[in-house]
Amino acid sequence: MKKTIYSLVAIAFLATVAGCSAKDDTEKKIDRLISKMTLHEKVGQMNQLSGGEWLAEAVEKGEVGSILNCTDPAELNRIQRIAVEKSRLGIPLLIARDVIHGFKTIFPIPLGLAATFDPELVEKGARIAAVEASANGIRWTFSPMLDIARDPRWGRIAEGSGEDPYLDAMMGAAMVRGYQGNGDSTSVAACIKHFVGYGAAEGGRDYNTTEITERSLRNIYFPAFKAGVDAGAMTLMTSFNANDGIPSTGNKWLVKDVLRDEWGFGGIVVTDWNSAGEMIAHGFASDLKEATEEALDAGVDMDMMSYGYISFIEELVKEKKISEKQVDNAVRNILRLKFKLGLFDNPYIDEARAGETLYAPEHLEAAKQSAIEGAVLLKNDGVLPLKDVRTLLVTGPLADAPYEQLGTWAFDGDETHTVTPLEALKKDFNVIYEPGTEYSRDKSTALVARARSAAARVDAAVVFVGEEAILSGEAHSLSDLNLQGAQSELIAAVKQSCKKVIVVVMAGRPLTIGRDLENCDAMLYSFHPGTMGGEAIAELLEGKAVPSGKSPVTFLKTAGQAPMYYNHFNTGRPNNGSETLLDDIPLKAGQTSLGCTSYYLDSGYGPLFPFGYGLSYTTFDYSNLDIDKSSYSAKDTVRVSVDLKNTGEYDATEVVQLYVRDLVGSVVRPVKELKGFQRVELKAGETKAVTFALPVADLAFWTAGNDYSVEPGDFQLWVAGDSATGDPVSFSVK
Ligand code: BGC
Repeated sequence: MKKTIYSLVAIAFLATVAGCSAKDDTEKKIDRLISKMTLHEKVGQMNQLSGGEWLAEAVEKGEVGSILNCTDPAELNRIQRIAVEKSRLGIPLLIARDVIHGFKTIFPIPLGLAATFDPELVEKGARIAAVEASANGIRWTFSPMLDIARDPRWGRIAEGSGEDPYLDAMMGAAMVRGYQGNGDSTSVAACIKHFVGYGAAEGGRDYNTTEITERSLRNIYFPAFKAGVDAGAMTLMTSFNANDGIPSTGNKWLVKDVLRDEWGFGGIVVTDWNSAGEMIAHGFASDLKEATEEALDAGVDMDMMSYGYISFIEELVKEKKISEKQVDNAVRNILRLKFKLGLFDNPYIDEARAGETLYAPEHLEAAKQSAIEGAVLLKNDGVLPLKDVRTLLVTGPLADAPYEQLGTWAFDGDETHTVTPLEALKKDFNVIYEPGTEYSRDKSTALVARARSAAARVDAAVVFVGEEAILSGEAHSLSDLNLQGAQSELIAAVKQSCKKVIVVVMAGRPLTIGRDLENCDAMLYSFHPGTMGGEAIAELLEGKAVPSGKSPVTFLKTAGQAPMYYNHFNTGRPNNGSETLLDDIPLKAGQTSLGCTSYYLDSGYGPLFPFGYGLSYTTFDYSNLDIDKSSYSAKDTVRVSVDLKNTGEYDATEVVQLYVRDLVGSVVRPVKELKGFQRVELKAGETKAVTFALPVADLAFWTAGNDYSVEPGDFQLWVAGDSATGDPVSFSVK
C-alpha cells in the first residue's frame, strides 16, 4: 500500500515537473521569438484590423497580429498563409469574431439565455458555438458581455445577463468555460467585456457617460468580471464609456491596479473598436499619439481599429514616453495566447470539413432546449397549454420572421435554417395565418382588420409581437419601451373577436407590455429565441414542454421608471406598498400628495414584474424554510433547507432562488441580493427538500473601510420563486 502511495506521489511530482517545463518551454519560445522581433514587428502584433482585401500587404510586413470580421474559410487560409509563409517571422494571425449567442446555430440572445438560470446549458451552448466557429477558423470571440444592465432603454441589455451581479457571474463563467473548452483545437478564447460599467450609460443612451463609485464598481459591476477571470478567460475588452471622467481604455487604476495586480489577470487586454482613438472625442487625449500613450500606459495590449498603436508606438518608444519593456509585455501576452491555442502548430482550417459541424442535430437540440428554458411565462389565465384547439390563428410581425427572431449580433446566423413559430405550429394545428402588420414598427393598421375577422373563426389566437432584431443591440437605445407600430392595436383587435388570445413577445429587452397584458389571456416572453425558437415556442404552447424561465431583469410599467432594479437600497423613506397610486385612486381636490415616500404618483413604487419572476403551468408551494443555526462565524456555511411542492398537474421545473439582506452595514446595503439558485424538477404532486450551502464569506462586500469583508450583524434570508415573494428567516454573523 505504502509503495503505491509513494509511486502516486512520484507520478504526481513528475507530472508537475513536466507541466512546469511545458510552461517554461512556451515562455522560452516566446522569449526567443521576441528577441528576434524588430520593434515594428512587435507593434504589428499589437494591431488588430478588420478583414479586407488590402490586409494582405500589412500582414506580409508583420504589421497585423489579429484580424476580425473575416469568416470565409478559404479567405482565412489565404491570409493566414501570408502571415505564416510570407511574413519574416511567420507568426500566425489570431482570427477574431463576435460570436455572441452561437455561430451558425443561433441560441437565444444572452438575456434569454440568462432567463434559463441554467449555467450548465449555457456552457453547453457556448461549447457548441466554439465547435462551429473554430471549424471555420475563428479562435477568439468577443463574448461574454458581462455588463450589468439596469436600464432597458439601453439596447445592449440584450447582449448580457441582465441586472444581477450573481447571475451575471454564473452565466459569464459558464460561457468562458464553454468557449475555451479543454484547450484542444476547438477551443475559442473568450473575451469578457466591456470593462467596465458600460451598461450604466446615462439615460440608457449607448456609449454615454457613467458615474459609478468605486464601491458600486466593486459590489455590482466587478463581480462578473472577477468570476470571468477566475474561470480562466484568456482576454478582456475595455469599454467605450468614461467613468468618473476617465475612459476605460486609458484607466490605469482599472486595468493595471485592479485587473492585473489585484486579480492577477495575465491575458490579453484589447480595446473596443477604436476606443483608444475615441479618447480624443472624449477630450481625454489631444490626438491619436497621446491616446496611444494613455492606452498603453493603462496596460492595454492590443488596439482594435484605431491604428494608433501601429502608427505611434515606435515614435513614443524613441521619445522614451513608453518603454520597449511595456511593448514586450503586451507582445508576450499576445504570443502566449497564440501558443496556447496551438496556432503555431496548426494555423490552418480544413476547408473541406469547415461546414460539417454546422447545424448538427445536437446543436439544434441544445438551441431548442435553451429557447424552451429561456422563455418566461408572464401571464396565464388558464388558456395555456393549448387544449381543445384545432383551428389556430397565427398572427403578428414576428410569427414568421426568420431573420428577426435570431436577434442582435447574429452575424453568421443563416435565416434559411430558422424554424419560425408559424412553421412549427402548422405541424399540429389547422393554422390560419394573417401577418397583422408587416414588421414590428409598421404603423399601418391596414392588415389588422383581416386578423380580427380571422380571429372570430378560430379556437385560439397567438399574436407574435416584439422587436425586429435591429431594435436592440449596439447603438439601438430607445426612449419608449412600448410595443412599436400597430402591434398593440393588433392585440386589442384580435382580443375583440377571440376568447383565447395568447401573446408571444420576441424582443431584445423587457418592453413595457402592461397595456398589452390586459388585452390577452396569456403572455409568453421568449426574448429573441434564435434558430430553433419556433419549435421551442410551439412545444411550450402545446404543453410538450412546461415554462420554467425566470426574468433576469425587472419589467417596468413605463420607461419613465428606469432605472429600476430589485437589489436597490431602501432610502430613508421606503414605500412598501402601503400607499395608493394616483391612477387607482385620484387625488381629492386640494390634496397634494399621497404620502412622503419614494414612488411615482402615476406608476407607483413597484415594477410590472420583479426580477426572477416567471410562471409555470403548475404551481409551487414553498414551506418549512429553515437554517441550521441562528448565529454563524465568518468561516461558517449557512445550511438552508426548504420544502418545495409541485401543487399542480404538470411535471415541471422551478428555479428556486436564494436571497439575502444584510440589515445594517457600515454602508447601506441592498434590500435583497441573489446568492444562489437551483433548477429543481418535480413531478406533479411531488415534494422535495431543496438545500443550499451558503458560505458566510459570500456575504462580503466593499465596506466603508474599503476592503472586502463580512460585517457582523443581523441578516435575513429568503428562498422563493422570485425576488418579491416569501417570508424570511433571520440569522446573525458574530
Ligand atoms: C462593440 C464590441 C465588439 C466590437 C467588435 C464594438 O463596436 O462594442 O462589443 O466586440 O465592436 O465587433
